[in-house]
Formats: sequence, C-alpha cells, structure tokens
Amino acid sequence: MRDITSAREIIAHLRKEIEHHNSLYYIEAKPELSDYDFDRLLEKLITLERQFPDLVTPDSPSQRVGGTITRVFPTVQHREPMLSLSNTYSFGDLEEFYNRLKKLLVLEGVHKQDMVAELKFDGVAVSLLYRKGILVRGATRGDGFQGDDITANIKTIQAIPLRLPDFGNLFAESEESEIEVRGEVFMRKEDFEQLNESRPEEDRFANPRNATAGSLKLQDSAEVARRNMSFVAYFLKGYDEEDASQFLRLRHLEKLGFYTGDNYRLCHELQDISRFIQEWDEKRWKLPYETDGVVLKLNDARLWEKLGATSKSPRWAIAYKYPAQQAKTVLHDVVFQVGRLGTITPVAQLEPVLLAGSTVSRSTLHNFDEIQRLGIMVHDRVIIEKSGEVIPKVISVVFDERPSDAEAVQVPSVCPECGTPLEKPESEVSSYCPNEDECPAQIRGRLLHFASRDAMDIKNLGKALVDQLVNLKLVKDAGDLYLLQEPQLERLKRMGRQSAQNLLRALEESRQKSYERLLYALGIRHVGRATARELASAYPSLSALRQASEVELATVPDIGPVVAKSICDFFSKPSVSEFLEKLETAGLPLNASERKEQVNRNFEGITVLFTGGLDRYDRQKASELVIERGGRVVGSVSKKTGMVVAGHDPGSKFDKAVKLGVRVVSEDEFEAML
Ligand code: IVH
Repeated sequence: MRDITSAREIIAHLRKEIEHHNSLYYIEAKPELSDYDFDRLLEKLITLERQFPDLVTPDSPSQRVGGTITRVFPTVQHREPMLSLSNTYSFGDLEEFYNRLKKLLVLEGVHKQDMVAELKFDGVAVSLLYRKGILVRGATRGDGFQGDDITANIKTIQAIPLRLPDFGNLFAESEESEIEVRGEVFMRKEDFEQLNESRPEEDRFANPRNATAGSLKLQDSAEVARRNMSFVAYFLKGYDEEDASQFLRLRHLEKLGFYTGDNYRLCHELQDISRFIQEWDEKRWKLPYETDGVVLKLNDARLWEKLGATSKSPRWAIAYKYPAQQAKTVLHDVVFQVGRLGTITPVAQLEPVLLAGSTVSRSTLHNFDEIQRLGIMVHDRVIIEKSGEVIPKVISVVFDERPSDAEAVQVPSVCPECGTPLEKPESEVSSYCPNEDECPAQIRGRLLHFASRDAMDIKNLGKALVDQLVNLKLVKDAGDLYLLQEPQLERLKRMGRQSAQNLLRALEESRQKSYERLLYALGIRHVGRATARELASAYPSLSALRQASEVELATVPDIGPVVAKSICDFFSKPSVSEFLEKLETAGLPLNASERKEQVNRNFEGITVLFTGGLDRYDRQKASELVIERGGRVVGSVSKKTGMVVAGHDPGSKFDKAVKLGVRVVSEDEFEAML
C-alpha cells in the first residue's frame, strides 16, 4: 500500500488532469482524450480515494459520479430573489421596451445604453453557491424566493466546476467570500434522444427541458450522473463588483471555468440587437441544443438595482422569443398503430415538407381526442409546428382550404390488428386493445422490446423475423425464443443456415446479460432502464421483486405509486407467470448474483455516514449495502444523521458526530446490522 503522502500527491495530480480534460471537453469542446482514457483516469482516482478516504474532498471530480440518495430535497432561501423575464414576441414590442428603458436611464442621467444579447437556453434555472471557491450548494429557482437544495444532483454535472480557481487570492483573504453563479441546466439534443431511447414509450419526455427538470429532481444522483446534463452560466455575483458590467461578468465566468454559450454580443444600438436576433433565427437550428429566443440585458450592472423590477421581472432585461417554426402540408392519411402495451396511436401521414432543417413526413396525433379537437379530415391542408419539441406536431387545420374530396378520419372501434373491440378507461386519454395475450401487434412489440439494444440486445432479431415468428405462431413470448431449433429457423423466409445459427448464438449470448437488463426487457409498463436499475439494486432477485407489495415498492428511490402499481399488476397476470417460468428454464439471469435471498430493509429511512477506512468493504460497496436495505448515505454529519460508521483512522466527522450525540458504530457492529 502506498503511504499517505505519496497518495496525496498522486491524487492532486490526477484531479488536475481530470479537471483539465473536463474543461477541454465541456467548456472548450476540444477533447484530447478518448472517453475510455478519461474514464480510466477517473477510475484511478476513485480507487486511490477508496484506499485513503480521508483524502476525499467535496470538490474532487470523483464526487461527480453520484451515489447519494436524497429522499426529500430541503427548501432553501435564495440570497436575493431569482427573477424571471418578461417575454416579447415581436420586434415592435422589443423596441418599446428599449425606448422605455432609455427614458428611465435618462432620468438617471445616463446616456449610454449598451445591451448584451445572449441566446436564451431552454432548460431549468439554478443557483450555485461557492464558499471560498468551493461549490457548497446548488438550488432550483422554485418560486423565486425559495427553491430546492439539489446539491448532490448538481455536482454530477460535468460543466459545473466544483472548485473555482482563486485568481486574486480572493477566497483565501476573506472567510465569508461567497460567489453566486446562476444559469441554466440543459440537455443537448443528442443526450436527450439517448435518454428517451432508454425509456418506455409511454414515459418519454416531450422535450429536453422537461427531461432536464425531471432529471434534476431524481432521488438517485448516480442516475442523474448518467443523464449527461450541461450548464450555461449567465449571472455572477460577488466576484468583481467594481467594474460591474454583464459583458465582463460573462468573461469572468469563462475564466472561472464556466461555459457561457460563447455567442453573446455587446450591442450599442437597437439595430445591433435586431441583427443579432435575425442572425440566430437561422443559425440556432445548427446548435447541438435548443434555444427559444434571445435575452437582452443592460450591460451596466451598476444600474440594475436602481432600475429595479416589477413583481416578476427586472426593468433592465427582457426575453425575445422566436415564433415557432411552422409549415403547411397535406394530410394524406391517418394510420393507427398498436403499441406493445396495446395503446392505439393515430399517426398522420404527411406530404414531406422541410421544417426547421429537417424533412417531416409523419407526426403523431397522440390519441382519438386529438383528432376530434383538431377537427382534422384526410386530404386536409394542415399546419405543423416545431417549437421547443424535437418532434413536430400538427397544430391546426386550414379550414378555408379544405378540398372537396376531404374524408372523415375513420376512427377504429376494434383493434386494427386483431379485431378485438377497443376499450377506453375513463381516466385515460388513449384507447387500447385489451387482447394482450393474443394480439399479434402486442406480441411483436414485446418481442422487439425484449431484443432491443438497451434490453437483451439480441442483434439478429429484427422486425421482419419477428413478424414471421409471430405469424407462424412459433413464438408467443420471449421465453419461446429459447426453444427455437435450427431446422425451424432455416425454413423461414430470407433465413438460411448461417442466419439461423447467428440468431441461436445471439440468443445464447443473451443468457449472459445482466439481471438488470432482464428486468427492463420484461416490458413492464413505466419501467425503463433507470427504474430497472433501481429495482435490481433494491431487489436482487426476481422472486423477491415478485413478492414485494405496492407499498414496499413505492419506497424505492424514484419509484412512485403509479409505477409500483404497474409492477404489481404485471406480476399478478397468469400469462406472466408462464412467461417467467420459461425464462427460468432457459437459464436467464433471474437474480443479481448468487444471492437469491431477499435483502432485509433494516436500514429503512436511516441516514448513514462513513468515516475512516473499513477493512472488509470499500466505501462504494458499503454504501450499496445500506441503500439496498432502504438506507441513505450522506457525506456530512448533522444532528439528523442516523448513524456514523467509524472505520480505522476516522476523520473530523467522527469528532463532530460524538459532539452532536449521533450514534457511532464500528465496522463489526455495522456488519452485524447488515
Ligand atoms: S437571465 C433576471 N439569461 O429564461 C434575469 N435567463 O424566461 C433572469 N434563461 O428564468 C434570467 N437563457 O431560466 C437569463 N441567457 C439567459 C437565459 C435565461 C435562458 C431562462 C432562465 C430564466 C428564464 C426567463
């Protein structure tokens, strides 16, 4: 084992390296390392920190991988209110704002009206608090006065520095030195699409903003870390108050290691503003993230306070929102798709049309009510729109141009696939086919889901093959796949010997996949990759999961009552029992490891803190064991901490725990409790 002095040096070196590459990747968008090599560096750091837990600091890049579970986000007060902006949708209104501001400035004897134009990022506003240069708190805007403390989740965002460089010895000088940075957490289009792919169709996010808002409120920070969110900073307070201008503050933010969006501009006149807006109306579609407008701020920040704000928005700033992009096209037909859960979705088949940089030829109409609401008929001219959403939608019918051959949309009353009368529960907007065991569309959907990349990843099982297997009644559920024989497969269309063998090999390989993937592959309503992961860690075997009650399930992080009910409903179906038996016979991974027993929940609701080194577990493993048993692992001691597990050479947290009267246990006692 290394000694602590050399470990300290190596750790410091690794952290510097990692931060440097992080900044190259996230701030400058010029990565020099492959993702693999970057992960190797991070792993090295994590391993060393595990050996020397006392060298872990709150600003270490290792803290970004998450792992803490927050059950309830505490409410925190903002240092000063987080205001919102008023919106304008026309250049005329913007001009009015500009002239109104001019008058106010003249009253103050100011004749210079420089404005900073910034892109308006479509995400979620947060406030970051740095004390002596260390990130100590991240909070949502909430109602503007108080928001939620989401620090653990914020720390997982790579573009947010955990420690600021101390240029002017600012942090060292003053005990109270406190810097606040505000900005927008957002998701790149690519990351958003990847996230949606891993979610069940019925739970996909409509746009990156919703995805960001949902992700910031997750209880499991390790899951937040996987979501790859980004951050753009647009507000700085407490750093350099002498020459307070928005433009310089943005420059400062960059020096401090923040991404500012790069594309802001200092505008001296109204004309410069209008040029900026026009330019970005086109160019913004090429950006890897979504922007929905331009924010204009008076550059001279010393005047901000004087000018003040109305109840919601400041007088020195405004948002110009781009009108949504629209196009007119023809509705050729409406087809009705049957999903793997039986939901019927009407899909508009459109004359292909170019909209905001891509060709659109299909668009979901969501449900039957939507067809009624729009009053849409086949052959109608329709307006489609792309606003915040990635996928365009039909927003209206051009009734004046309705052609004489317009036909009413034939809304089916029976399943277009199997002819079973459709049902529509009172509480839901969609109709569905109740024939879940026999409807070929649902069987096909479940099989394709089972084989999909994030599930069992059975590459050779494509749509054409699934169609044949189901039509010929060779397969009714994924369990049947494992009973297929080479001669049977060889006889199928476009199959041959080689393809049959490839499929059998792919099926064989799928037996080695993880239990967590299998849980996702089962296709339980509302259970996506992330939920499957949580379930797998709370219930390391399928038999334990099957026995769990709704109430118990709802205590697993990020699982609410709706998901809990859906899981129980799933396991209570007779066809599911049969299906699971087949999977068991086929030798699929029905538990996380050899441990088949159900874990107890004897850490339920207890917060645990580890300090010092443990002999028999590493920190990560010990934390997992606590979380698996319903507990929560925290990084700092307070009166509310349930228990402190003290290993050898415990740190200052041990002393603090003793002082606060928090229960302290040894590794042996901890093990006994497990
Ligand atoms: S400044 C008082 N700048 O838009 C100043 N906001 O509609 C308030 N936003 O709550 C914010 N990009 O969530 C500012 N460059 C930018 C922005 C921006 C996006 C969001 C922010 C704000 C909302 C107001």
